[in-house]
Amino acid sequence: MSKRIVVAGSLNADLTIYCERLPAPGETLHGRGFAVNPGGKSANQAVAAARLGALVTLIGAVGEDANGDLLVASTAGAGVDVSHVHRIAEPTGVAVISVEDSGENSIIISAGANGTLSPAAMDPALFAGAGVVCLCLEVPLATVHAAAAAGHDAGATVLLNLSPYAPVPDGLARLTDVLLVNAHEASAFLGGFSLPAPAAAADAWRGAGEEFARRGLHKVLVTLGSSGSVVLDAANAAEPVVRIAPTRVDAVDTTGAGDAFTGAVAARLAAGDSLAAAARYASVAAALAATKKGTQAAYPSAGQVAAKLRAVETDIRP
Ligand code: RIB
Repeated sequence: MSKRIVVAGSLNADLTIYCERLPAPGETLHGRGFAVNPGGKSANQAVAAARLGALVTLIGAVGEDANGDLLVASTAGAGVDVSHVHRIAEPTGVAVISVEDSGENSIIISAGANGTLSPAAMDPALFAGAGVVCLCLEVPLATVHAAAAAGHDAGATVLLNLSPYAPVPDGLARLTDVLLVNAHEASAFLGGFSLPAPAAAADAWRGAGEEFARRGLHKVLVTLGSSGSVVLDAANAAEPVVRIAPTRVDAVDTTGAGDAFTGAVAARLAAGDSLAAAARYASVAAALAATKKGTQAAYPSAGQVAAKLRAVETDIRP
């Protein structure tokens, strides 16, 4: 029986322009279409997990505006409990997104209501019985810390997606059970240490795992885009590194694929999977998410992930 997931964090309206290629600095380009999509890393992660069958509570804030209506409708429509998404006077957070034909994107966010989500909203009662608490850095760091503390005290696995990147205070690192980073975030977190190439052997990645462990993070998932992902578990002497192969798809829009990965990891950890098993599953969910435009509307069901998992090889052997 899966335990409940609490996602505490951001909801954004994604103002998205599709274009042939991303503009260079100072350049103006013609786009190929525009859409306002429901987004925000936390809302996306909540929807991704719910689509996969998880029970999810989302804690966040949106404005009393049309974008807020869009986000509440999308998350609730996926089955997420939105009774702790507060409607406030500040406008809903927005993301301005460009997506080029290759599926690659660039994103700038403006926090709006997300910036007002306070530590006081992290009522410990909301975390009771949770199996996983899922966090990102699109809301104030003090709020992320309060949610991590509430999750930790409730005995939940605290999963921190270090995006957008910010240095992690020691107190938050101590409360984090699993860190989820892409290659940029991993390099920034590790400071002077240079991350192995994606295709490097497991031995090279073990060194990275030890560097994370030295900074207090023992279980780390590093996503590597089209090169797959790596699971680092410094405390697991038998298997300190698992390299997950990329799932090959025709990518249309990679926006929110990382959130599909995070939400799927949360869903599988809440169901009792090991970290490596959760990452294998999430890799497929994220790849499927990139095959359609938008974020939440593109996220796969458990049946779709299961069918794809049967058809792909997930592990890269040393
Ligand atoms: O990870 C993708 C998300 O980042 C978008 O939905 C956007 O809102 C930003 O939060």
